[in-house]
Amino acid sequence: MAGTSFQGRDVISINDFSKEELLHVLSVAKKLESNPQPSLLKGKILASLFFEPSTRTRLSFASAMKRVGGDVIGFSQAETTSVKKGETLWDTIKMIEHYSDVIVIRHSVEGAARLSAEAASIPVINAGDGANQHPTQTLLDLYTILKEKGKLDNLTIGFLGDLKYGRTVHSLAIALSHFKTSIYFIAPEALRMPSYYIQELKKRKIPCRETSDLDSVAKQLDILYVTRIQEERFPDPLEYQKFKAGYRIDRSLLKISKPGIRIMHPLPRVGEIDPALDETPNAVYFRQAANGIPIRQAILALVLGKAK
Ligand code: NCD
Repeated sequence: MAGTSFQGRDVISINDFSKEELLHVLSVAKKLESNPQPSLLKGKILASLFFEPSTRTRLSFASAMKRVGGDVIGFSQAETTSVKKGETLWDTIKMIEHYSDVIVIRHSVEGAARLSAEAASIPVINAGDGANQHPTQTLLDLYTILKEKGKLDNLTIGFLGDLKYGRTVHSLAIALSHFKTSIYFIAPEALRMPSYYIQELKKRKIPCRETSDLDSVAKQLDILYVTRIQEERFPDPLEYQKFKAGYRIDRSLLKISKPGIRIMHPLPRVGEIDPALDETPNAVYFRQAANGIPIRQAILALVLGKAK
């Protein structure tokens, strides 16, 4: 897509965004945050289709929409819909496009959002498809980095945790490749970043290294992005048990890291960050979650043609 024309557009993968477009979304979010527009999307309806569990993404999309005057319909459990009777995703979308102006979908199957976009004539926004992509989380992650660090260039970022199945990591690593970043992927052998992403980053000349030892690289990091083990994506529950208690950061990390290190997490956390870190200025995960509102308002306003 040329320029920064967003009207009518789907938001499926971070790969579909140029650097200019990423920065444009951040700048619209900044404007909406400093100058709220309570009637911007008045009369517009968001269909919020969550086939997988969610707290932040679903509720922040709904809150974002309502705070700019829009309405929300949808479901958070597919069991209560005709999907339970065997209706296909395609047919479900074919109906819902007439009930709403924009669709947000989360699904456990990779490619489900892309398929929905093919079915729908209205914009479709991917709120997470399996282990694949989570582009709106990435935009709020970039917004958080920009707010916390004042820049997106010349930063060293460490990703810690389940890099194999963590879709937020997959999307964010690609987005960061537009900037001057160095990346450390810190994970146990079996949860390493998929080689596709490593190769892609190398092609884009992004220095990236893999390690399983956080302590040895902590001193270099401006940002540590922690993720939980994605239990629901493990084909074998016994495999998951092996990694369950694999890593946990606590205040001792601050003794060996840069004083200004920022600790991010898309949440939910399930034990990998000691809550004693929450009160430190380094912990930004709750502010990060709050940034979902202006970012999702910006995305909705842009695809609905109400922001330029
Ligand atoms: C993430 C997701 O769903 O991928 N959560 C979120 O959207 N904030 C991360 C996760 O579930 O671990």
